[in-house]
Amino acid sequence: MFRSHTCGELKINHVNTQVTLCGLLQRSRNLGGMTFIDLRDRYGITQLVFNMDVNAQLCEQARTLGREFVLKVTGTVAERSNKNAKMPTGDIEINVTAVEVLNESLTPPFTIEENTDGGDELRMKYRYLDLRRPSVRANLELRHKVAAETRTYLNSQNFLEVETPVLIKSTPEGARDFVVPSRMNQGQFYALPQSPQTFKQLLMVANFDKYYQIVKCFRDEDLRADRQPEFTQIDCEMSFVEQEDILKMFEGLVRHLFKNVKGIEIPELSRMTYADAMKFYGNDKPDIRFEMKITELKNMDSESGEEQLWKGAGDAFKVFEDAQYIAGICARGCASYTRKQTDELTDWVKRPQIGATGLIFIKHNSDGTATSSINKFFNEDELKKICTHFKSVPGDLILILAGEKNKMQKALSELRLEIGERLGLRDRSKFSAHWVIDFPLLEWNDDVKRWHAMHHPFTSPKIEDIDLLKTNPGQVRANAYDMVINGVEIGGGSIRIHNKELQQTMFEVLGFTSEKAQEQFGFLMNAFQYGAPPHGGIAFGFDRLCALFGGADTIRDFIAFPKNNSGRDMMIDAPSAIDDEQLKELNIYTRK
Ligand code: AMO
Repeated sequence: MFRSHTCGELKINHVNTQVTLCGLLQRSRNLGGMTFIDLRDRYGITQLVFNMDVNAQLCEQARTLGREFVLKVTGTVAERSNKNAKMPTGDIEINVTAVEVLNESLTPPFTIEENTDGGDELRMKYRYLDLRRPSVRANLELRHKVAAETRTYLNSQNFLEVETPVLIKSTPEGARDFVVPSRMNQGQFYALPQSPQTFKQLLMVANFDKYYQIVKCFRDEDLRADRQPEFTQIDCEMSFVEQEDILKMFEGLVRHLFKNVKGIEIPELSRMTYADAMKFYGNDKPDIRFEMKITELKNMDSESGEEQLWKGAGDAFKVFEDAQYIAGICARGCASYTRKQTDELTDWVKRPQIGATGLIFIKHNSDGTATSSINKFFNEDELKKICTHFKSVPGDLILILAGEKNKMQKALSELRLEIGERLGLRDRSKFSAHWVIDFPLLEWNDDVKRWHAMHHPFTSPKIEDIDLLKTNPGQVRANAYDMVINGVEIGGGSIRIHNKELQQTMFEVLGFTSEKAQEQFGFLMNAFQYGAPPHGGIAFGFDRLCALFGGADTIRDFIAFPKNNSGRDMMIDAPSAIDDEQLKELNIYTRK
């Protein structure tokens, strides 16, 4: 046997055992007569002892060993006189009798410690060294556990894991495709799948009934903390189901994961319509770990006819008069904010990423009075009326934005999250999972002047809304749902269209000619003519789920070899140019 034990397992009961350990040199300390080395492997760290009095030659050898050298050591387990309660192996050490250097190492470009001195780029370039750090490895161990538990749950529910192709056909919907030139079919290209959507539907036509796959997806889109160009989905599809069946099944999955990965029993998932999510939180993935709902003062789009409080003002307040939408949030206990703090918040909302022109404050002071940054236009009675409308209590601060509805909703949503963060209401160890349902089927894209599928073109409209498809497409609701946890869209799916004619109508509404629809998706519509069962499904962002469980915002830390913000792999230096010979073979172009 190469080694008898790992560096993480030796305890006091192993004292006097002869052992052989393998690992990398974490650090060494030379104390004159004694040399100590910490030996690290995947499982932990064990302290090695070399004693000058016992074996001077070996001790001299130990002093020549550098950081990250790969060692095989033999020795006897001894009880430590100076125990370290923080280390699992802190009760023992090894009195070494032989050392073999299995490989040497250059001095690593950054310290392989919890608090490393390596910057982001450097660690990405030497990702294999960064992965040696226990916290980074722990992220991947967590990822492994989430994958294993996902398979356990879905297998127990009779799902079949099926692989779908990676070289597929480019389609115009969704994000940009990554394309791959075909040598054997010159001038033609494959695309890498943005998701296995059409294939999983074809598996339902093939009567597989329940499918899943933990699968790589590729999207050529701008990157953010929760987006990578290649990422992983837990992709699922089921036949003979309604929306309710899917919500139940995958609520089950998420509860199973929380329980078995995090040891947390989460309550039943609540549901919120898309319309309510937008109205009360300003976005379709609200973080409901905290309340602080948006309260409207004016909404020219509103059917409910919110009370238009600004009308009570003595002097007309131009900002309110002109606005399509006025709304705000109530920050509990923030009436004591100083001028400096409110100025800083105003600057915060005026940043281009947020895009508000200003921020209005009403302080519901602790003595019950109300004061405001718009005192000039509102007397105290009117301010108090607004306080009542916001259900504020003494000590609260009301923050109001006015302007174009979509823009202000987005800004308020960001402001709400920011205030939530500042007030410590977004505790990463707390989880709040819920469904957002009843999404609109379509959204209008003003740039290209046509309707886009909000989820994707295979999503079924609600039966009761089908007649609106041709007359009032914007009003059609979809059988689509997202799972949101702590303000992150963790998964999304829908009941699908399984009927050729309805699918054709959908493509028409999306502006496809029937030839184009046939060319792009003829295979699917043809398949629907051969006994396609009603079906639906969902896909979870696997990397996002792992980051959430790991208490992090960025998914990069949970991917073994991620891309940087420009979509580059710094370690292998990809993407890269290819040589003329390869280009010629692909008939793409030849550089001069
Ligand atoms: P959707 O496009 O909503 O649906 O994707 C499903 C989930 O995948 C995650 N996700 C991403 N994660 C990391 N990086 C990205 N670039 C990225 N893009 C998406 C999100 C998202 O909720 N085929 C449909 C699913 C279906 O209808 O069944 C689909 O792909 O967490």
